[in-house]
Amino acid sequence: MKILVLTSSFRKTGNTYLLTHLLCQQIQQVADRYQIPVDFDTINLSEQNISYCRGCRVCFDKGETFCPEWDEIAPIKEALKEADIWIFASPVYVEDVNGVMKVFLERMAHVNHRPEFAGKYAVLLTTSGSGSSGHACMTMASTLRAWGVKVIAQKDFIAGSLSTEKKLFARFEKSLDKIAQKVINSYRNHENYEPSFISLLFFAVQQKLWRKSTNCKDHPDYLYWQSNNWLQPGVTFFIPHKGNPLAVLTARMAGSIIALFFEGMSDQL
Ligand SMILES: Cc1cc2nc3c(=O)[nH]c(=O)nc-3n(C[C@H](O)[C@H](O)[C@H](O)COP(=O)(O)O)c2cc1C
Repeated sequence: MKILVLTSSFRKTGNTYLLTHLLCQQIQQVADRYQIPVDFDTINLSEQNISYCRGCRVCFDKGETFCPEWDEIAPIKEALKEADIWIFASPVYVEDVNGVMKVFLERMAHVNHRPEFAGKYAVLLTTSGSGSSGHACMTMASTLRAWGVKVIAQKDFIAGSLSTEKKLFARFEKSLDKIAQKVINSYRNHENYEPSFISLLFFAVQQKLWRKSTNCKDHPDYLYWQSNNWLQPGVTFFIPHKGNPLAVLTARMAGSIIALFFEGMSDQL
């Protein structure tokens, strides 16, 4: 099992580092019980050179490799592709993810249009000083769901200004263990992959819109959906899945209705 920790804190031994470290330890322990070998890899976004997205839209309109700063993102995307499970971790800054994480998500916006990570699982972790509304986790959750990723756990850990590993473990051992268990369960039950209702709904809306689009049949986004056979009538998600048939049906019906409100927009994305 390959796990990629993608963290964005600048503090090398800060709360976010300590909590991701503790979570990895817990995952290792649970994995050992099931004799699952685990390979951890970490990318700290704060150590990468990631420029702001300048909004040129070339990634949308021509393809991501045409981005003038593509070299900054390519190796990170490769690491994401290789991992089975992602741990995205950010400190809360002014009720959101910190700037580096936000810039990274923006630089990956082509994946919102051409989702290519279905089948991956993610744990979303934030650390805050005095508590957050969950908005920072939501920023990552809504982005990753649009990429086709299944979010298996998301939690804000209230950690104060700077804590110690011992204190954090004493406070959060139970939560960390619960998340670790979810990670291993997801990995072990991968053949029974069940997309969340919101993911099925998201797929249904996009599928409807792309099918109805009139003047973007030569656009990379449309061609991507078409070449993956996602526009076929019987296809209900990016990958074959074991979703509850009632949830699939409801998502398709609700998706058709929601798509009516966005009609015409797909030509202007
Ligand atoms: C610029 C800045 C903004 C912050 N904004 C918030 C906030 O909105 N809510 C909160 O509870 N904590 C906030 N904090 C506190 C951090 O989220 C918290 O201490 C976090 O655990 C730090 O993680 P780190 O040690 O990995 O840097 C802020 C800290 C900084 C430096």
